[in-house]
Amino acid sequence: MELPFAESYRIKMVENIRKSTREEREQWIREAKYNLFNLKSDYVFIDMLTDSGTGAMSDQQWAALMLGDESYGGARSYYNMKEAIKEILGFDYFLPTHQGRAAENVLYSTIIKEGDILPGNSHFDTTKGHIEYRRAIPIDCTIDEASDTQLEIPFKGNVDPFKLEAVLKKYPAEKIPCVILTVTNNTAGGQPVSMQNIREVSALCKKYGVALQIDSARFAENAYFIKMREKGYADKTIKQIVKEMFGYADIMTMSSKKDAIVNMGGFVAFKNEALWKKAQMFCIMNEGFITYGGMSGRDMNALAQGLHEGTEFDYLETRIKQVEYLGARLDGYGIPYQRPVGGHAIFVDAKKILTNVPKEEFIAQTLGIELYLEAGVRGVEIGAMLADRDPVTRENRYPKLELLRLAVSRRTYTNNHMDVVAAALKNVYDRRDTITRGYRIVNEFPIMRHFTVELEPAH
Ligand code: F0G
Repeated sequence: MELPFAESYRIKMVENIRKSTREEREQWIREAKYNLFNLKSDYVFIDMLTDSGTGAMSDQQWAALMLGDESYGGARSYYNMKEAIKEILGFDYFLPTHQGRAAENVLYSTIIKEGDILPGNSHFDTTKGHIEYRRAIPIDCTIDEASDTQLEIPFKGNVDPFKLEAVLKKYPAEKIPCVILTVTNNTAGGQPVSMQNIREVSALCKKYGVALQIDSARFAENAYFIKMREKGYADKTIKQIVKEMFGYADIMTMSSKKDAIVNMGGFVAFKNEALWKKAQMFCIMNEGFITYGGMSGRDMNALAQGLHEGTEFDYLETRIKQVEYLGARLDGYGIPYQRPVGGHAIFVDAKKILTNVPKEEFIAQTLGIELYLEAGVRGVEIGAMLADRDPVTRENRYPKLELLRLAVSRRTYTNNHMDVVAAALKNVYDRRDTITRGYRIVNEFPIMRHFTVELEPAH
């Protein structure tokens, strides 16, 4: 008999979580102004808001914490992190930052001027925010197939090279500080980018004299998909694939809260020494001295260890298989989501489910609230709320997709939890025709409104 698949770790410490009643949840979500970010975590049973900083560190990482060197300058922990970045990613120069968006802040303070153009596959919301805040323009060149949620293709996160070349042709190189490749493509559903596509994008960057930045939050998951899906990579190790991926990049930004499996931390890394030196001033001003940036020594140590663990095949297989397990449960109930299953989350296709809620009333947000009310499961909206307003016209932007993301934290929940999530979603799905009312905005920030927005039932 073939042995079933099982996790590549066992559990040494547990954290209690609490169930609640529907009545309690109705009160809590009202008090949270129907914004899932505003809920106390104690009011959530299974938290799928994000996979960022929510993973469980290993015993080796906790041990590394104890060896942290908290020196202001030249800490051993900094050199541990430097060694791991060089060994695994191949970059010589880096600056630690407190998280991914801080790495973006340091980098974009260094290279973006007003009116610049930054093409790439779908920019993550903080990336877009940092670009638009500087009055520069992100251009999404993701392949069109990414917006057809039912289409099964292996690398749905890819850049369309024709769209990218059109942008590179249209604007002079001085106006394009870099092309941004996000692996995996979070906004498109945690979908991977193929090595062939990375190679093509890199060749276009070279042809037009533009730098290539890889937004690397989930680079290891991307490498796993390359190994499993791309011809010629089955026999390569994750570490070999990762090295090749970054061989094409000039710059990388990293939110280490994802694939380096730490609760906080990030960095920006450079191949070019001069650019690294230029960026140092912004690191010192915004984050901290160049050998700690926004991080404590112990956290740099855990991060270095996490880079090693996060690029192990057994760990990645366990992780991705759990997301696939949830996908298979949803398949059993006929619930539509972005196919194929992505790396870190299931992106439920809210538009296909809540067909009676108008887009002006925030379809995916409405589904997120319904799922919370059903079982205390917290997901996050990736739809019109996140898409925000057009910075010039201030009109609401309505993206093609209205998705409810159910992010799976690393090494945190069991497949029993996944069963609960799927059953809760099925219950909402079964009563979908009765859900006819969405929400309207009462209060919002001018940029990145989804974090703090306040809502009320639309009518
Ligand atoms: N880039 C990508 C692709 C991301 O997914 C994120 C964060 C960032 C950059 C910013 O990193 O949070 O450390 O400042 N994504 C989280 C998420 C928040 O839920 O997907 P950060």
